Amino acid sequence: MVELVDVPRGLKNVVVTETGLGDVRGGEGFYHYRQYSAVELARHSTVEDVWFLLYEGHLPSPAERAAFTAELAGARRLPEDLADLLPAISRIGDPLRGLRTALSALRLAPLWDLDPAARRRDAVRCAAVVPTVLTALHRLRHKQKPIEPRDDLAHAENYLYMLTGELPDKNAARAVEQYVIAAIDHGFNASTFTARVIASTGADLAACLVGAIGALSGPLHGGAPSRALDTLDAIGTPDRIDAWVTERVTAGDRIMGFGHPVYRTEDPRSAMLRDIARSFGGDRVEFAVQVEKRVLRILAELKPGRELHTNVEFYAGVVMELAGLPRDMFTGTFAVARTIGWTANILEQTTDTKIIRPSARYVGPPAPQPIPG
Ligand SMILES: CC(C)(COP(=O)(O)OP(=O)(O)OC[C@H]1O[C@@H](n2cnc3c(N)ncnc32)[C@H](O)[C@@H]1OP(=O)(O)O)[C@@H](O)C(=O)NCCC(=O)NCCS
Repeated sequence: MVELVDVPRGLKNVVVTETGLGDVRGGEGFYHYRQYSAVELARHSTVEDVWFLLYEGHLPSPAERAAFTAELAGARRLPEDLADLLPAISRIGDPLRGLRTALSALRLAPLWDLDPAARRRDAVRCAAVVPTVLTALHRLRHKQKPIEPRDDLAHAENYLYMLTGELPDKNAARAVEQYVIAAIDHGFNASTFTARVIASTGADLAACLVGAIGALSGPLHGGAPSRALDTLDAIGTPDRIDAWVTERVTAGDRIMGFGHPVYRTEDPRSAMLRDIARSFGGDRVEFAVQVEKRVLRILAELKPGRELHTNVEFYAGVVMELAGLPRDMFTGTFAVARTIGWTANILEQTTDTKIIRPSARYVGPPAPQPIPG
């Protein structure tokens, strides 16, 4: 008889593998990529450098940076057969749904059949093409022609350029770049775990990403930023904050953008994004700050001892809106960032040949019973 081991609900605090990519220290409000503070990287570095760091384990030298940037720029273009499919795919619905289908259309070989160099090529290819696919799908849905990527633009800048066809304002591009860096990776979250489970079966890299995107799309994970903005809209004016929030929390609803499975302090990403939002200024930002303060006070009163703080999603929506991103691209933008982290995790998972295959405790009627009739 095999002994089953019970673990906490939701696998909370269960260590299922080792990683050299980074970690989240929930009690300290700190997270890191490799050996560097992720927030410091977001404040001072570029997407390309952090991407390289996650894949290679060190920040690039100038020569490595030039080679990697050229490699990424080359991988942004859509293969012709995928470009042909996008108008039909855009009819599926929001760009994130379409992205799942588009990635499958890359027709990659199973990771199990590839050597490390080919796996890495697929990783770069998938993560580099995600912004191109998302912006093309967004434009097609709005009856606009997709915009070709530009090799001379940085990752985030090019993403915004492909959305509108215009060179973005420098502050907006840097704000989105900082958000993207901050959202690249974050411990063994639900979508990263999903990607690694699929990678452990030896499936192709796009299949791992499709599963991860599905997990990310849920409102308890990456689907919250547009809902956090919906909350600001629903509250409307400062005099309505207390009544609105109290009513929702008393009814058992969750206030989007608050609470976290790991942080028991303020989410460091939220503090950084608040600073970025404040650097834009304006009534919307001041209203968000007011709402945040009141929600924290009310959650502390109505949910004592739960340590509910602002999470990344609350200001992510505000910053993305200020940077000119439409609401239906918020979770997609999270995916632009997280694909880089997922691919790094997938590559790391392929170094372990053990399939991830837990058990469930059967609690149904005793079996076997005679089949009726
Ligand atoms: C992120 C989240 C899923 C974490 O969940 P978790 O670690 O499983 O937290 P729990 O479900 O154990 O919550 C503990 C308690 O706080 C409450 N709670 C958690 N987040 C809350 C929120 N945002 N608003 C109101 N109450 C909340 C729960 O209802 C629970 O109350 P109870 O003890 O009376 O049952 C959860 O906080 C949430 O749903 N937040 C809103 C969605 C969101 O912002 N998602 C983005 C995450 S980055």
